[in-house]
Amino acid sequence: MTASKADVPANGQSVAPKKLRSRAWFDNPDNPDMTALYLERYMNYGVSREELQSGKPIIGIAQTGSDLSPCNRHHIVLAERVREGIREAGGIAIEFPVHPIQETGKRPTAGLDRNLAYLGLVEVLYGYPLDGVVLTIGCDKTTPGMLMGAATVNIPAIALSVGPMLNGWHRGERTGSGTIVWKARQMMAAGEIGYEQFIELVASSAPSTGYCNTMGTATTMNSLAEALGMQLPGSAAIPAPYRDRQEISYRTGKRIVEMVHEDLKPSDILTKDNFLNAIVVNSAIGGSTNAPIHINAIARHIGVDLNIDEWQAHGHKVPLLVNLQPAGEYLGEDYYHAGGVPAVVNELMKEGLIHENAPTVNGKTIGENCRHTAIQDPKVIRPFADPLKAEAGFLVLRGNLFDNAIMKTSVVSPEFRERYLSDPNDPNAFEGKAVVFDGPEDYHHRIDDPSLDIDEHTLLFMRGAGPIGYPGAAEVVNMRPPDYLIKKGVTSLACIGDGRQSGTSGSPSILNASPEAAAGGNLAILRTGDRVRIDLNKGEANILISDEEVAKRRQELAESGGYKFPAHQTPWQEIQRGIVDQLGNGAVLKPAVAYQRIAQTNGIPRDNH
Ligand code: FES
Ligand code: MG
Repeated sequence: MTASKADVPANGQSVAPKKLRSRAWFDNPDNPDMTALYLERYMNYGVSREELQSGKPIIGIAQTGSDLSPCNRHHIVLAERVREGIREAGGIAIEFPVHPIQETGKRPTAGLDRNLAYLGLVEVLYGYPLDGVVLTIGCDKTTPGMLMGAATVNIPAIALSVGPMLNGWHRGERTGSGTIVWKARQMMAAGEIGYEQFIELVASSAPSTGYCNTMGTATTMNSLAEALGMQLPGSAAIPAPYRDRQEISYRTGKRIVEMVHEDLKPSDILTKDNFLNAIVVNSAIGGSTNAPIHINAIARHIGVDLNIDEWQAHGHKVPLLVNLQPAGEYLGEDYYHAGGVPAVVNELMKEGLIHENAPTVNGKTIGENCRHTAIQDPKVIRPFADPLKAEAGFLVLRGNLFDNAIMKTSVVSPEFRERYLSDPNDPNAFEGKAVVFDGPEDYHHRIDDPSLDIDEHTLLFMRGAGPIGYPGAAEVVNMRPPDYLIKKGVTSLACIGDGRQSGTSGSPSILNASPEAAAGGNLAILRTGDRVRIDLNKGEANILISDEEVAKRRQELAESGGYKFPAHQTPWQEIQRGIVDQLGNGAVLKPAVAYQRIAQTNGIPRDNH
């Protein structure tokens, strides 16, 4: 075995290898009762005493796949290859289930479950005899949930993406996850297709195992897990059913055992530079508006200072290079063949936009990993000199409506600008009449009501959709215009809200408004008919009412008992509502942030009997 950095101190003298934490369970002669108890039950499962006491690292495989989580279900197959890699490298694999988080199946929103899975993972990683862990990631919130948990506990951890589904096809055209829904919805509203064709068209986008094949939140977060240095280079984009996906699973299993010997922990990898790289890569791939929420949450749990304004400072001017739906044309398989994350990173690196010395799980820097990975298909990953769009990142807006919200300005079309322009001399100032909805049910119920008088200059507002209000923050801010406008050819209106938007939607929206109405934000005092002004130059969003009127309305709201939201339906809804932070701060559980690197700071938990 090569000497690891933990074994060789600065003075060059080698020391005994660091004792593995699993030894406190399986090899503690000072407490024979407990050692026997710990051993007998894992021996009963089929691992021999000889193995458990051999000093081999015990590696957890955090299994996020299940029948309830189809996006990640292929991890059940891949885990076999991970196990072989772990065994080959001299470790013992122990697979365990993670609370399922399935984006499209979970009601009222999977947004409620990210922090629950996080909490569960922290307890498992800290409380069981694990020396390292393979985090199986994929469907939107599984990636941040797993990385947040590994950050808090801080034992050696490596992420393994399940990979995207194969490309979807319908009548010779690519159909992409989620994105096809927004398109099919417009086609149905315009009377071009019926219900049966609608379902058939949407289902065509999901032809195989894997996660969403568009640049939605899943592809975004899996790409960013690689940009953060937490996955083996080149692994994020491999489609789920490909043979390469099996191979990278095996190599991931091998590598985590080495990482345990090297004592290479999340805190060694997740440096500020890695987070800044993730912000830049997110712009270049056309990443989801959910990324700031999740990346900021991971940063908070590892103790790196990252705020929402840094998304604009480091990401806004970066151009869009990856031509994937919803911003572009292609899908996951194309992204992989074009070179995936390393090709994007290399292209950005040539422009000096990447912190090349940022560490990664393979022990090399991101610069070393990506320097020679050229773009393989410039239609899918465009060279920096010929981007799909300029300034693909987010603007951060603030004003009397909220303290912060984000907007992807690159999806604002010239036609759209024209419609909302308030001042012919200032192409970045928009104004319109607000129409306000309280939750998606209210919106579905009233959107086609002619008495709302929605026209092509109207701004649609969605409130009651944040971490507290919904609860969990749902992807409901992107709203289609009324049928009568779609028939006139107006396919999108400006949408603003305190909830999220699906990463598969390309709508120009102002999202993640913090604080939300339910947390006392001024969206709660907005009224249908108010004029609202958005100034992209100044980064402002304001209701055009006086400060006195704001104060008066706030007073009235307080007297009425505050903004109303639905009653709790489960214990977790109530618990989370009481302790969750706002979207701009990562929507983390506030008390959890105080727990940092607990495997080091809190040692090994006491015996259980
Ligand atoms: Fe699970 Fe998109 S719904 S990855
Ligand atoms: Mg979604």
